[in-house]
Amino acid sequence: MAKARTIFYCTNCGNESSQWAGKCSSCNEWNTLKERVLEKTIATHDRREVTNTEKTPVKFSSIDPTNDSRIILNDKELNRVLGGGLVPGSLVLVGGDPGIGKSTLMLQLALNNPGLKIIYVSGEESEKQLKMRAERLDSNTSDFYIFTGTNTNTIRSISREIEPDLIIIDSVQTLYSPVIEGSPGSLSQIRETTSELMQYAKQTNTSIFLIGHITKDGAIAGPKLLEHMVDTVLQFEGDRNYMFRLLRSQKNRFGSTNELGIYEMTGAGLREVENPSELLINQTDSGLSGSAVACTVEGMRPILIEIQALVSTAVYGTPQRVTTGLDSRRLNMLLAVLEKRCGFRLGQKDVFLNIAGGVRVDDIGIDLAVIAAILSSNLDIAVPGKVAFCAEIGLSGELRAVSRTEQRIQEAEKLGFEEIILAYQGKKEAKLPSVDIKVSTFKRVEEVFKHLFG
Ligand code: TYD
Ligand code: MG
Repeated sequence: MAKARTIFYCTNCGNESSQWAGKCSSCNEWNTLKERVLEKTIATHDRREVTNTEKTPVKFSSIDPTNDSRIILNDKELNRVLGGGLVPGSLVLVGGDPGIGKSTLMLQLALNNPGLKIIYVSGEESEKQLKMRAERLDSNTSDFYIFTGTNTNTIRSISREIEPDLIIIDSVQTLYSPVIEGSPGSLSQIRETTSELMQYAKQTNTSIFLIGHITKDGAIAGPKLLEHMVDTVLQFEGDRNYMFRLLRSQKNRFGSTNELGIYEMTGAGLREVENPSELLINQTDSGLSGSAVACTVEGMRPILIEIQALVSTAVYGTPQRVTTGLDSRRLNMLLAVLEKRCGFRLGQKDVFLNIAGGVRVDDIGIDLAVIAAILSSNLDIAVPGKVAFCAEIGLSGELRAVSRTEQRIQEAEKLGFEEIILAYQGKKEAKLPSVDIKVSTFKRVEEVFKHLFG
């Protein structure tokens, strides 16, 4: 028998080391290192080698990739994020905060794809609870299997019998494998169960969706290493006070990670949102001060969003700067630029900034709209007409061009805007699409200010 060896692993990031330390050398967390005896894992390794003996090497040129044509799901947003449909035999991890809608998304997937044989493995809810939940959803078109066990051996033997096209596991933290010690949700169990499922997926060409919980700081709970093992990592996010849910791809072996899926949480489940701009802009309230529309790009899609600002005299000594949906450091930078380069005195004012709809935006192309909203609120004059903005602001108050300008212009035109304000791009302007919307370009913030408010 092999001599038992112990290693220390970090319960936060999964990093392994041969010695104990108070602080993890990888993620710098304190007191997260736990000891583990390696003997058992060696044993499982041997077992796996034995079961794999029937595999033989194949010539690379003889592999036909077209055999693996993608499964087109009955969910456009999910297809888009997966890179054009689900690849058979792929293992997809879906992470997200508790209560964000992961189970709902997966249950709808099971209910809406009559062409697929699906097993939904639920370690968190009973059959009855799932049925009750399904009754709330208005889509009830297809039948599927529900299994409420958590032992991976049973799950695999059931799957061999039923031969599904797709297995959904809710959640990976509830699974356990009898070949290894440790309670469900522990690092060693998560690692073992995921690798067993990975093997099953590859051997039988069955796709598997794994739901994973995330920790307080947003990582998939347990190990970072889970993300390395699976083919695709999707993150489901959104502000729980709002109805929007964004599905982002963080890693995708079979497609781009730039894609974004947008859903709306309704009383009857998640609804795909094909045209987010229409929902994010408050069309009826035009004419109010402190509001400006930015033309941003999320993933590959142009989206118009409304930026709202409130500038008021500070009541307390230190002025407040509060942002929702935008990085507050970016706001501070923009305020400093306005103060230093353009002479607007905002130092003694409170500034509140809000992106409507509860979406979070990282795109710097919204800078100009943020500034327009702040100036509009400060003057208490509405931005005149139906104007959209799209430019980055540099530290000397200059407007800078951003990526995908053509798409942004077309989106603004599609939504009935009369004018779009962009950065002056010199020669590049010749390439802009010929559109009916008025395209105004400027070099500096002061020029935009004069153009808007005279
Ligand atoms: P759920 O899918 O259980 O979240 P997760 O699996 O990510 O923890 O979603 C639960 C939330 O969604 C819950 O707060 C209620 C809400 N919800 C709706 O608003 N409408 C619905 O039709 C359903 C099923 C849930
Ligand atoms: Mg759930």
